[in-house]
Amino acid sequence: MTAARRVRPVASTLAEQCRPRITWQRSLPAVGVALLLGLAAAVQAAPPQGALPAEPLLLAQALNTTPPRTESFEPQVGQAGKDVVWVPTPEVVVDSMLDMAKVKAGDFVVDLGAGDGRIAIAAAKRGARALGIEYNPNMVELARRNARQAGVKNVEFRQGDIFQSDFSQADVITLYLLPTLNERLRPILLDMKPGTRVASHQFTMGEWQADQTTNLDGRQALFWIVPAKVGGEWTAQVQGEGAVRFSIEQKYQKISGEGAWGDRRGPLTEPQLSGGQISFVVNDGGGKPQRFAGTVDHNGRMSGTVTDAQGRSRPFTATRTKTGAPS
Ligand SMILES: C[S@@+](CC[C@H](N)C(=O)[O-])C[C@H]1O[C@@H](n2cnc3c(N)ncnc32)[C@H](O)[C@@H]1O
Repeated sequence: MTAARRVRPVASTLAEQCRPRITWQRSLPAVGVALLLGLAAAVQAAPPQGALPAEPLLLAQALNTTPPRTESFEPQVGQAGKDVVWVPTPEVVVDSMLDMAKVKAGDFVVDLGAGDGRIAIAAAKRGARALGIEYNPNMVELARRNARQAGVKNVEFRQGDIFQSDFSQADVITLYLLPTLNERLRPILLDMKPGTRVASHQFTMGEWQADQTTNLDGRQALFWIVPAKVGGEWTAQVQGEGAVRFSIEQKYQKISGEGAWGDRRGPLTEPQLSGGQISFVVNDGGGKPQRFAGTVDHNGRMSGTVTDAQGRSRPFTATRTKTGAPS
C-alpha cells in the first residue's frame, strides 16, 4: 500500500546524496539523508593512513567527537553519533511511521537511536509507553528535557548502545539509522515475538521486504511485521480426521509449501503469514479444499480451525517435526 503527502524533497540520486560538499543553505531534509549516507560512505572509504580529502575528513572527525556536556547543549544536525550521526525525522514522517505501526495505548514502543526524543515522545502522546535508547548522553538529557516540556510522563530515555541493549519486550520498534545498521539489526528483530511492528524512516532491511511503504515526496516510511518462524515439516491433528502433514518453505513473511491429507498430496494454496497469524488451503483426501487458519509461534506450535467449502469448522493443533532453513 502506498500513500503520498507533501514534505520537502530529499536529494534525488544516491550520487547526489553521497556528494561530500554540503551547502547548509539547501533544505535541511535533503542535507539530512545526504549526511547519513554521505558521511557513512566517507568514513567507510577512509584509508587507514588518513588520506581523506579535507571535507570528508572534517566530517569523519566529527563522527568521533562528543560535544561537551552543558545545560545549554544545542544539538547540531550531523553531529557525532556512535554508528550514525544525528539527523532528526520530520514530524510528518514521525506521524506516518506511528500511523503505519498503529501505535496505541498499551503498546511498548522503543526508538533505537532516539536523538532528541521526538519519536518516543510522539508515541507517548498517543498513550503508548515509550523508551528511547540513545548513545550520546547530551542527547539523552535533551530528550528528557523535551519530554518534560511536552508534559508526557510515560516516556523514558536511556543512554546505551542499541547493539548492547535488550529491547525484546517491545511491541513496536522505530528507527532512522542506515541500511547497514538495519541489516545488522535484522536477525535481532526477526527473533522478537511474532507480530512485533517495525517502522523505519527512509532505509530498508535488505532482502526482508517491507509490508508497507509510504512515500512522502522523496522520503519514505517503511513498515514490517515480524513473522513467526514457520519453515519446516508439520503434523496436524484435525478433530474427527486422521493426521494431516504439511511442509512450509519460508522467506521472511512469504510462505509456500505442500500438504498430504490421506493419500492425496498437493500444494498449499492461498498461503498467508502475518506475524503469528497463518492461513492456507489444503485439499483433503476427497480433493475438497480445507482452509487452515490459526495462530503460530516461533517454537513450532500452531492451532486454529479447519473450515470446509460448506463453512463447517473444526479445531486443529499442529506441531513442527522438523525445522526448516532460517530466512
Ligand atoms: C539519524 S538519528 C535519528 C534520531 C531519531 N530517532 C529521529 O528519527 O529523529 C540517529 C541517532 O542514533 C544515535 N546512535 C548512533 N549509533 C548509536 C548506537 N550504537 N546506539 C545508540 N544510539 C546510537 C545517534 O546519536 C543519533 O542521535
